[in-house]
Amino acid sequence: MDKLLAGKTAVVTGSGKRSGIGYAVARKLAAEGANVVIADLGLNADPELAVRTGDESEMADIAREIAQDHAVETMAVNLDVTRPDSIARMVKTIAGRFDAVHILVNNAGATFGVPNAVHTYDESAWMKTIDVNLHGVFRVSRALLPMMILGGGVIVNTASRAGKVPALFNGAYAVAKAGVIMLTKVMAAELAGNGVRVNAVCPGQIATDLEKWRFGLEAQFFSSTIEEREKEMCKTIPLGRIGRPDEVADLVVFLASDRAAYMTGQAINITGGQLMEL
Ligand code: NAI
Repeated sequence: MDKLLAGKTAVVTGSGKRSGIGYAVARKLAAEGANVVIADLGLNADPELAVRTGDESEMADIAREIAQDHAVETMAVNLDVTRPDSIARMVKTIAGRFDAVHILVNNAGATFGVPNAVHTYDESAWMKTIDVNLHGVFRVSRALLPMMILGGGVIVNTASRAGKVPALFNGAYAVAKAGVIMLTKVMAAELAGNGVRVNAVCPGQIATDLEKWRFGLEAQFFSSTIEEREKEMCKTIPLGRIGRPDEVADLVVFLASDRAAYMTGQAINITGGQLMEL
């Protein structure tokens, strides 16, 4: 059977550690024949991040492993989506190896300064959260679009259920993800004439370091355990369980492929039914 993405090149931000959604996305894109750029903090590791980041050696291992398993070309590149110089270096490195980028998955994300209500939120943590999650998508898209526009292309942004439903005590993240959804729509409308489609995925509860950390915080707050918090959460999910990174990756691959050729400007929920509204 023909692979859906044979001959395409994809860049996935925040894909440098095996436990994350970005890694699952990179693997599934490669399984469908795409060359993949693994872009993550690596050498730029941020000491303020609450969860582990993709480090240099793990990124390099992932790139090697995916190339071997799927017979595609891969590379690992250091990237901090908050720094224009880092983004410019990434683009230069990619341009040295690939003629064009066909797929960009803006997946890097993080939250700082939680839990806090808006009126007690530390200002620099608020700004930083919005910088990574929202401005990072703007910066990386803007920098890579010149490599995409000639051949058309696809952008998939990782937004969140939190961009549609208020995430309490995690306000900056929720506001940033709502911004990602609107940015997706604006870019979709602006770029349609250039043959570039832009969509977003809105995951609910997905089993990664970020989710574990969140249940850890809740456990402290409610004097409970991580397992107990997870059980409580599952009661609010019609499908009754936490989702897996590879399930989000399947949706990203679909949106990146021609099977979604008539879809742009959409923000698709993948929440086990926890969110049913548009
Ligand atoms: P994670 O924390 O496990 O992975 C995030 C990745 O982004 C890490 O590899 C990290 O190094 C990278 N990153 C962070 N700041 C960066 C920066 N400034 N520049 C470059 N890379 C940076 O998180 P997870 O769960 O894999 O999340 C992936 C995406 O999915 C994020 O955008 C997150 O907000 C979103 N999401 C996750 C959900 C979940 O339940 N796990 C639910 C909804 C959305």
